[in-house]
Amino acid sequence: MNLLVTGGAGFAGSNFIRHILKKYPNYTIVNLDKLTYAGNLDNLRDIEGNSNYKFIKGDIADKRIVFKVCRNFRIEAVINYAAETHVDRSILDPDAFVKTDVLGTFNILEAVKEFKLKKFVQISTDEVYGSITKGKFTEESPFLPNSPYSASKASADLLCRAYLKTYNLPIIVTHSCNFYGPYQYPEKLMPLFITNLLEGKKVPLYGDGKNVREWIYVLDHCWAIDFLLHKGALGEVYNIGTGTEKKNLEITEIILKSLNKDKKMVEHIVDRPGHDLRYAVDWTKLKKMGWNPEYDFDRAIRETVRWYQQNEWWWKKLKSGAYLEYYKKQYRL
Ligand code: NAD
Ligand code: TYD
Repeated sequence: MNLLVTGGAGFAGSNFIRHILKKYPNYTIVNLDKLTYAGNLDNLRDIEGNSNYKFIKGDIADKRIVFKVCRNFRIEAVINYAAETHVDRSILDPDAFVKTDVLGTFNILEAVKEFKLKKFVQISTDEVYGSITKGKFTEESPFLPNSPYSASKASADLLCRAYLKTYNLPIIVTHSCNFYGPYQYPEKLMPLFITNLLEGKKVPLYGDGKNVREWIYVLDHCWAIDFLLHKGALGEVYNIGTGTEKKNLEITEIILKSLNKDKKMVEHIVDRPGHDLRYAVDWTKLKKMGWNPEYDFDRAIRETVRWYQQNEWWWKKLKSGAYLEYYKKQYRL
């Protein structure tokens, strides 16, 4: 199968490409990535010489390049990982979120229609459902996004729905809980906290730290997308979850303990505007099809901490970016 993976130089996309190339040696993958601050070819260093893999630098918001890639590489299926993904950045500067997440997805849908592709898997988030105090979001829950990031992802998902209903395209939309693991840009909770502590810096915990997220190890997410690419029913929406819910405070304590650091290293700072209290998804639909997460949370988070400890070469240069200086000023860090 000839696959187009968009955003494959990012955290989850690069893990997915590695997973597919290893498991399906007869598949070819084209990785179309704009290489924003979050796109990093270091994530794919070990496979860049693989003859079944090709990298193309390009923007999914540019319809011509999306069409050209689909045509030239005889693409059969697309997995859309490309997105602006960080909630805090979407609060400070939402423009790119609308361009990439909404217009970019629209261009891919147009390509699916034009080139009669066999499958399109849209990688989306549980954040489109908004925040939930009790219970879990099902695939039928309404979209109530609260940040420019989640609103742009929800808009893209609605376009997917419309293209499915109007043009009967072979689309699958996935809403996953939070990923963690190797190669995650050190601005998200886990890699930021781990790398700050490794540098002897404090960790900035928003508000009271009682916000809850559901967590999936990135390789389990790869496995879920692989499963849906091959076994998912066309036109369906799937939640991807694990049932592992943790308060940010709990995550912080685990990381502190793994690195033998004191609670004094935690700095409670001003809360994120519109900060969702809790996300939790009901993923019974996927479970009933035979998918289950394979990684144990306690073990995988310790392994994640160890990966950042052992791979300073990967994250050290990413933490000196200009954006972080701006961000630190914004939040008086
Ligand atoms: P990431 O920020 O690490 O990577 C995003 C990638 O997309 C980067 O390589 C970047 O260069 C690329 N990109 C950005 N704009 C582009 C454009 N216009 N054209 C082409 N490429 C572009 O993201 P991630 O954390 O790996 O998330 C991947 C996907 O999974 C996203 O769609 C995100 O919404 C979704 N998701 C993420 C999480 C999570 O916890 N990280 C949870 C649920 C869903
Ligand atoms: P994040 O990794 O940004 O993912 P998302 O907001 O998409 O779930 O944040 C996870 C949680 O951690 C969220 O409740 C916000 C919180 N958080 C902090 O407390 N401090 C931080 O510096 C960051 C980046 C996040």
